[in-house]
Amino acid sequence: MSKKIQTIGILTGGGDCPGLNAVIRAVVKAATVEHGWKVLGIQDGYDGLVWTDKIRPLGSAEIAGILPRGGTILGTSNRGNPFAYPVTENGKTVVKDISPTILENIPKLGIDALVVVGGDGTLKIGLELWRRGVPLVGVPKTIDNDLSATEITFGFDTALHTVTDAIDKLHTTAESHHRIMLVEVMGRDAGWIAVQSGIAGGADVILIPELPFSLDKICAKIQERAESGRHFSVVVVAEGCRMIDGRPLGDVTHERRTTPRGGAAANAIGELIARQSRREIRVTVLGHIQRGGSPSPFDRVLSCRLGVAAVGLIARGDFGKMVCLQSGSIQSTPLEKAVGVLKTVQPQSEIVKTAQALGISFGN
Ligand code: F6P
Repeated sequence: MSKKIQTIGILTGGGDCPGLNAVIRAVVKAATVEHGWKVLGIQDGYDGLVWTDKIRPLGSAEIAGILPRGGTILGTSNRGNPFAYPVTENGKTVVKDISPTILENIPKLGIDALVVVGGDGTLKIGLELWRRGVPLVGVPKTIDNDLSATEITFGFDTALHTVTDAIDKLHTTAESHHRIMLVEVMGRDAGWIAVQSGIAGGADVILIPELPFSLDKICAKIQERAESGRHFSVVVVAEGCRMIDGRPLGDVTHERRTTPRGGAAANAIGELIARQSRREIRVTVLGHIQRGGSPSPFDRVLSCRLGVAAVGLIARGDFGKMVCLQSGSIQSTPLEKAVGVLKTVQPQSEIVKTAQALGISFGN
């Protein structure tokens, strides 16, 4: 029999995305109104459970007006893994396991259960804390839509609106100036934003991490269009796309650790296309604009449903689970099944074939 819940905590971790505030609001409303629990807002992801001074109660005043707001009122961090936390000692950076502090602080703060809202990294940490006895539930988020255990993550739809709007705008100027426009979108490991915005925006070429490209194929597509009288093209570039020959597209920066910073891929590809095709190229890097803004109605509704469902799991004592969307309905799945496997765009999938049938080249 699980402990009677009186107080729950909520944190948001990883890169922010539209809809986080809608989840926070839904959790606070369902917890306080339906169950009479107290809710504590934990600041800056798991960091807030180590340095607890900014933890504050969340009630109707704190959540008023946040439904349409982008970002997260709780702040977030995509750097601090408490199981391998970089700390400076005697002028040197050493990696330490500071999770025992979190395990001590949770009961000290009177938190009976925790809601962690985040992507794969945040949920993996959640799973480890749950294995060490923390009663918690997860809520999936990421604009990248690359979590395998849920059909769609909130934030993705809003990002698609932002990117599609940008592609529409780039189209008209591309046509006026007879230029090749490259637009770089987020997606280090998965090309969902690129594929769906590329189809929605009528792109000519889409480059994604899952389908390594050849420069010749891109230039051939541009040439084919020119020969049919269309002297402009729009190329959507996922930041994590790769060349068939494995040539790196930019340098890995100190803070990104494994991938180059945003802009590297599209700028490198733009330069290569310009040299080979001898056409005028312009590059637009959408970057963090994709993570901002007011959530779309779809994302707001999904966020509300997931937030309410997370509270439902806690009420039933059903911990170690993540709420998710499956076949259009809200369900839950064990965290251990939900993390570690990214949902990527399958080269033979219907969405890729649809794009190809529309004449879009993947440069492969
Ligand atoms: O995981 C979400 C994401 O938006 C990725 O698509 C992108 O590569 C990354 O975050 C950017 O993170 P940062 O905010 O650290 O630059």
